[in-house]
Amino acid sequence: MSPRFLNRHNARIEDFAATVAEIENRLRRLAAIGCRGFDCSETSLKTIKTWGHKITSAPETLKVIRNDLGDCRRCRLSGGRKNIVFGSGDPHAKLVFVGEGPGYEEDQRGEPFVGAAGQLLTKIIQAINYTREQVYICNIIKCRPPENRNPRPDEIKACAPFLERQIAAIKPDLICALGTFAAQTLLETQKPISKLRGSFHQYMGIRLLPTYHPAYLLRNPAKKRDVWEDMKKLMQALK
Ligand code: URA
Repeated sequence: MSPRFLNRHNARIEDFAATVAEIENRLRRLAAIGCRGFDCSETSLKTIKTWGHKITSAPETLKVIRNDLGDCRRCRLSGGRKNIVFGSGDPHAKLVFVGEGPGYEEDQRGEPFVGAAGQLLTKIIQAINYTREQVYICNIIKCRPPENRNPRPDEIKACAPFLERQIAAIKPDLICALGTFAAQTLLETQKPISKLRGSFHQYMGIRLLPTYHPAYLLRNPAKKRDVWEDMKKLMQALK
């Protein structure tokens, strides 16, 4: 078999695995709110109409979601990781920060934003009068991509149901998307971060403010001024 055929074949298997994982996650969410089996009676159809509301009023816990993730092998990134970086902080935080994905330090420690960019994020959080323990920090993807390359669409797709469930469980008032990649992925847009930052958008019915990634700020300190403007808006919105 040619390597091209094998690559395509493997990509399809990964796609299929991601779809199965998504269905499994959705069924688990239904199971978590007490749904057992399906029938098509009028009563059940009426109940189905209310499922969306039930999901938001009875969210599952982060513990259950972490458990479902298990020793995840849903995409190729599992092959190169040391640790899954699930997320850290207050499970009931009013504010959630979403970054791109773990780097070397994060992979080593199994915690998000603990390297150089993470130290700057900690200072940003403190500047808005919070601590890391009072917010929740996570990423679009939970495993480190090799050489810190950008995550691929099928890798994002495999991780997305878990991030969605985390956000649904935390029910924050606000989300801050850190950097181009997180903002574009969550908002399903190709617009540049320079256009997205500075104003509020919506993700799963929650207000989302994109800003520059702390790693970008380390390379472009002049942009810290813009991030501070964004953080003032976050503080105002959190009042
Ligand atoms: N950059 C990210 O986007 N996330 C991390 O967890 C660390 C660095």
